[in-house]
Amino acid sequence: MTAELFPETRQSHRIAPGAVLLGGWAQSEARALKAGVDAVIASAPWRHMRTPGGRSMSMANSNCGPLGWVSDTDGYRYLCADPESGRAWPTMPAAFWRLAVAAAEEAGYPGFAPDACLLNRYAPGARLSLHCDQDEHNAAAPIVSVSLGLPAIFVFGGARRKDPCQRIALEHGDVVVWGGPTRFNYHGVLPVPDGHHPLVGRYRINLTFRKVY
Ligand code: SIN
Ligand code: FE2
Repeated sequence: MTAELFPETRQSHRIAPGAVLLGGWAQSEARALKAGVDAVIASAPWRHMRTPGGRSMSMANSNCGPLGWVSDTDGYRYLCADPESGRAWPTMPAAFWRLAVAAAEEAGYPGFAPDACLLNRYAPGARLSLHCDQDEHNAAAPIVSVSLGLPAIFVFGGARRKDPCQRIALEHGDVVVWGGPTRFNYHGVLPVPDGHHPLVGRYRINLTFRKVY
């Protein structure tokens, strides 16, 4: 019996009140999503942003949609143009929008209308330290996170940095939605193990959809 012939059925489960893992939910759309990633990257290439402290982030980023999240030595913020090119961020691909809106609804957040999508690309060893997403002015809308490519461990904590964390194994096609009482919970990604994914190669790509305003 091989994993290819008998793929594990990905399960959905509630992580916390307001937060849900939709296991394998984006799998059937993965090719369209990857094509969308390639189109975005063709006009806003991957780059390693700097933290406010001046360190280069281990993951590479880009954005699409009206607003894009940036980090540099001036801090974190959303901008309507790519600082590398001075041009507007690429339009959000239709497949991105459809999936994000449907996943939010499935998780109990109907009417989600994201105005920003951050693309994160993790090479093996890249990680994202514990943080909470608090640069958005809209506290009512959830965060929708879509995982493609290599698996990784997502760490999901509480409202305070010191709160206990759950470790959630995320695979290609998994979607996590958090909002409501968990909207500002701490979360992060452990160093991504090496591997090869048939569609994405030697990377994990994550899309996070946000509503800034
Ligand atoms: C994020 O917190 O922005 C991304 C999380 C992830 O890569 O799964
Ligand atoms: Fe985040």
